[in-house]
Amino acid sequence: MATEYKAVNLGQGFPDFDMSHELTSLVNDAMNNGFNQYSPMQGYTPLREALAEKVESLYKTAVSPDTQVTITPGGTYAIYTALTTVLQPGDEVIVFEPAYDSYIPNIEVNGALPVLIDLKFPDYKIDWDIVKQKITSKTRMIMLNSPHNPTGAVLREDDIQQLRSIVTGTNIIILSDEVYEHLIFDNIAHQSILRYPDLLERSFVCFSFGKVYHCTGWKLGYSISSPSLMKEFRKVHQFNCFSCHTPSQVGLTAFLKNKDAYLSLGSFLQQKRDYFQQLMQSETAFTALPSYGSYFQLYKYNRVSDEADKDFVMRITKQYGIATIPVSAFYKAGTDNKVIRFCFCKKKETIDAAIEKLCLIK
Ligand SMILES: Cc1ncc(COP(=O)(O)O)c(C=O)c1O
Repeated sequence: MATEYKAVNLGQGFPDFDMSHELTSLVNDAMNNGFNQYSPMQGYTPLREALAEKVESLYKTAVSPDTQVTITPGGTYAIYTALTTVLQPGDEVIVFEPAYDSYIPNIEVNGALPVLIDLKFPDYKIDWDIVKQKITSKTRMIMLNSPHNPTGAVLREDDIQQLRSIVTGTNIIILSDEVYEHLIFDNIAHQSILRYPDLLERSFVCFSFGKVYHCTGWKLGYSISSPSLMKEFRKVHQFNCFSCHTPSQVGLTAFLKNKDAYLSLGSFLQQKRDYFQQLMQSETAFTALPSYGSYFQLYKYNRVSDEADKDFVMRITKQYGIATIPVSAFYKAGTDNKVIRFCFCKKKETIDAAIEKLCLIK
């Protein structure tokens, strides 16, 4: 619809500004220097080594590049592969909603059952008492996502303690979707599962280079797990994608030396969140819910309409030329709390153009 109505698109989650030219040059160099054939199934070795070093420096956990890190064609593929590695028909998987749209189909295609738990509106925290109630002998996995799409909620240390108390003594596997690892604001520390070696033993942690380096179209990511789980993961990966784009892996290896490129991301995106939020507050009738991370912020529109969120976003796309996403789309049952998602990871001009439209909605 954004295309059809030539709308300013704050719907989909991708940056509309340029990525690093240093990184594109490094990939060009890799191609020109002959890195154009298959890389190893588990990923280009120096890249896995660079990632292990990064994990050690950020989270103080030693992971083996040989046995614990696998490069994948994007975060979504890493998640799919982890689910396919573990799930058998009839298994149950705890999924918190609203949820990134690939999770439920990826569970169902494996014959397993998503057990859906709502994050508590409006702060979208996990109610761990409900999680305890939903655990059965069939619970095989719990899926986490922090920073969270679509809400911008982040896990705190006490969430990790609660998680630990639930999984200890069980065979439950954790899938931690951390594609927004560096997109975290307000000096909050990212609660990566990689910080917790006891949890990593039973986890797949999934990442996306696309989100980190503003190149979502590259579809490159990776997963980190225990050696025994990763061995099984690679059996699925080997006969699916087998090996990922080599020159990008070579370029990323060199670029990972530039720590500032990923460490500065949080404050860069926080400035965008703040710029957008200040204008939304002063110029429009939308009310922000807090966003602590990701590309996204949710807004209430109760001061301008009581329509269902889907009807509202379709109308404003057509009538005002501004595209957003209704949060009900992230619930299997279409739960509608009358909030919509804006992607603020955009150029200043795009944000300004969006505000010009949004201020007309009264
Ligand atoms: C929560 C979440 N996980 C995973 C992904 C996908 O990452 P990739 O593009 O690397 O597959 C996205 C992309 O929007 C996302 O929002």
